[in-house]
Amino acid sequence: MSAPTSSADLGVYVHVPFCERVCPYCDFAVDAVGRLEPALERAYVELLLRELEVTRAALANRLETRVLATVYFGGGTPSLLQAASIERLLGAFSAAFRGPPDEVTLELNPGILECRRVPEYRATGVTRLSVGLQSLHDTTLKRLGRAHKAAEALRGLEACLAVGFPSLSADLIYAAPDQSEDELLRDLERVIDLGIPHVSAYALTLEPGTPFARAHARGRLRLPSEDESVRMGRLLRARLAAAGYAQYEISNFARPGHRSRHNQRYWCREDVLGLGVSAASLLGELRFQNLRARRAWQSALEAGRRPLAEAESLSEEDARRETLYLGFRRLDGVSRADYRRRFGASPELHFGAELEALRSLGLVCESASHLRLTERGILFADEVFLRFVGR
Ligand SMILES: C[S@@+](CC[C@H](N)C(=O)[O-])C[C@H]1O[C@@H](n2cnc3c(N)ncnc32)[C@H](O)[C@@H]1O
Ligand code: SF4
Repeated sequence: MSAPTSSADLGVYVHVPFCERVCPYCDFAVDAVGRLEPALERAYVELLLRELEVTRAALANRLETRVLATVYFGGGTPSLLQAASIERLLGAFSAAFRGPPDEVTLELNPGILECRRVPEYRATGVTRLSVGLQSLHDTTLKRLGRAHKAAEALRGLEACLAVGFPSLSADLIYAAPDQSEDELLRDLERVIDLGIPHVSAYALTLEPGTPFARAHARGRLRLPSEDESVRMGRLLRARLAAAGYAQYEISNFARPGHRSRHNQRYWCREDVLGLGVSAASLLGELRFQNLRARRAWQSALEAGRRPLAEAESLSEEDARRETLYLGFRRLDGVSRADYRRRFGASPELHFGAELEALRSLGLVCESASHLRLTERGILFADEVFLRFVGR
């Protein structure tokens, strides 16, 4: 049986752990900094470059001769960084691994955007913007605790559209406090009319420990019911499908040629090196994650150590489970041929009982070439994923 293999090419993820302020529903590793001071920005970029070198030295046998396929600046709010910082980092990645990459994504908060930076980002080699729109209604933005109003976000978005990036995505949140179906539909119409070719749509999740989770526990936050949330999800999928967006992952929709190459790497278990606070990596059978607290991450690097919170070498059983768990996220599903090539047998041989149970619940179906979620499975995907996580 073959061991989990490394891909020859590489994706690089960079976590930017700064936001103007922290949204009350958010559980990402971020610090509220207002505007990002140039000294703090320079120091963080220096530390990222140091992490790149420490990691390359420690994993030389796994990282040399790689071709750089994608880079993703996520956060946090990467658009708080100046274009010169992005340029510096991209230059270092292209020198360390053979670049330039095919796709460079930058996440951006349109409500607090310095619009003059947008053409500068394009000039550094950014090919794709992921715009955190969330909603185009002031009441919903306010209830979500966002710092901006819809008109400001639209101004930021239009500055992005004017520059002509090869691809552009908008993040929307649905099932937000007091949000109606009609409001969601109007947001979608606007996004479609603006010609944005990729949409990521997330049902609002109550993350433990966030102000939203606490308010909800005290009965101070009214959210749409599960049925309403499922209905909104259905509505959203139908409207985007009618407008020519293919759903290619549970939360992601794209017009032809606009799927996120970087994010597809995660779902296909292709190698990604994560740099920065809390960033996660997969290199062949090695999975590791960085420290979540910025100070601890920094101290490790200053002491010449890799800033790891955890690292594990996945067993073949772990890799098989991940292949199903992540593969089912994709609407194409799990390729039988790929699975057989990696693990030397059919998915049924390893997970017969789980797959049978999911089929009988109407959550998973199959063709000669793939196993995939049914319509019902898309709506209740967490039930499917839970069968394959853990032992
Ligand atoms: C790192 S943020 C993207 C950029 C930027 N920080 C922003 O918020 O505008 C990634 C996306 O995750 C989504 N998100 C964050 N927390 C969420 C939650 N609790 N439930 C649903 N979606 C969430 C939002 O749509 C957000 O745009
Ligand atoms: S701006 Fe984005 S990353 Fe920052 S706190 Fe809000 S949702 Fe989280």
